[in-house]
Amino acid sequence: MKYDFGMIGLGTMGRNLLLNMADHGVNGAGFDKDASKGVQLEQEAKQGNVKGFSEVKPFIESLNTPRAVMMLVPAGKIVDEVIEELIPFLDKGDILIDGGNSHFTDTNRRVDYLESKGFHFFGMGVSGGEEGARKGPSMMPGGDKEAYNVMKPILESIAAKVEGAPCVTYIGPGASGHFVKMVHNGIEYALMQLIAETYEILRNGLSLSDTEIHGVFEKWNAGRLSSFLIEITRDIFTYKEPGADHLLVNDIKDEARAKGTGKWTSQEAMNLETPIPSIDSAVSMRDLSKYKAMRTKASEIYGSAHSLRGYKHGNWMGKEDGLKFLEEAYFFSMIITYAQGMHMLSRASVEYKYDLHLDEIAKIWRGGCIIRSTFLENIYSAYSKDKNLEHLLLDADVANLVKRASAGMRNLVAAATSVGIAIPAYAASLSYFDNFRTENMPSNLTQAQRDYFGAHTYALIGKEGVFHTQWMPK
Ligand code: 6PG
Repeated sequence: MKYDFGMIGLGTMGRNLLLNMADHGVNGAGFDKDASKGVQLEQEAKQGNVKGFSEVKPFIESLNTPRAVMMLVPAGKIVDEVIEELIPFLDKGDILIDGGNSHFTDTNRRVDYLESKGFHFFGMGVSGGEEGARKGPSMMPGGDKEAYNVMKPILESIAAKVEGAPCVTYIGPGASGHFVKMVHNGIEYALMQLIAETYEILRNGLSLSDTEIHGVFEKWNAGRLSSFLIEITRDIFTYKEPGADHLLVNDIKDEARAKGTGKWTSQEAMNLETPIPSIDSAVSMRDLSKYKAMRTKASEIYGSAHSLRGYKHGNWMGKEDGLKFLEEAYFFSMIITYAQGMHMLSRASVEYKYDLHLDEIAKIWRGGCIIRSTFLENIYSAYSKDKNLEHLLLDADVANLVKRASAGMRNLVAAATSVGIAIPAYAASLSYFDNFRTENMPSNLTQAQRDYFGAHTYALIGKEGVFHTQWMPK
């Protein structure tokens, strides 16, 4: 029997994607050096149209030509090693897909390399975790369009669907698919950080019990904040280990790990000079969380935050007000976070000539991926109305929503900071917004200082050219 599609890497993601394909009538062959993974694949398949291999040669020979092979292996060197291992067995015209979270610069390099060898290659971001892979992920393919078009029917069949539309679309040339997935993950980091800060306010600021916290996320998920990340947070606040009398989340160490895609987003945003401070703060706070011993010492020196119950300086005193402001603050910051991510994409589109269609990207993020949310519908509509929208915050409908949520946002930030609760992502979102809406930033002073100490020159309002001043007598 010959197979239509080959998958390299039969971890949960690879296995689930193959099983998803099998559900849609695609015969899939899977390869993993660990033979038990192939056995597991065959056991999990309901139909017999999947097969596991642990040797490269028979795996490649089992595929119909031109072959289509996807790699779902950890990003980095391993991808290059797999490519080198495959090349001797592949024929010109075969299609190779990297479905992992590769850095887009690695993808650029691989595009050139594999093209020079006569293979079709495209990098594709795949989002949605284990369940997404099994039931319908969101996919961001970029690069070789001809090869994508060959794969399109299969990818559309396995993708998540929103109102019948598949959550996959051709993103653009080169490494654009992996670039867009990287920014997706940056947004994911910031939203997760905002939810963590929300949790901190709920448990320490408002002294809510776990059951009450569950109730808050349940309510949020039924309204305009409805999203995958809020939904799983709601569920986390119900989960106890068998026989346990408390939630598992309370036993987990407060030291966050990361595989690096959020950091890449921040690094690349700096390269592109596109500010994304909400995402940056999320990356930094994951890092700060790792310094547990130092944080413990500091907490002994400085003490910890006070309760928000009875907060007096603002105009709210009780739990109900606090929850109302918090909901507005999350909505506000969530919009700012998406806006920063979209802005970064629009900048990259110009810089790297990706010709990104931000409406299409918002459209395929509405389902299947980790950052899917009801609000992506608004983003989709903003960029559909105006394909050249410079910034999401300049859309009139979004502006109305932001304006209406801003009072709650300010109350929340004022209250939390005044009692010492750390809310870096909320605060960064608000300050970003406040500077974004400022016609006259104080950067004139920065320019004067630069010129003072380094003769770096400055530009003058209403005058052409650059100027330098001897600010004080020598
Ligand atoms: C997705 C996720 C996925 C993965 C992240 C986790 O879209 O399905 O983003 O790609 O879960 O890489 O990233 P960290 O380990 O860095 O948190």
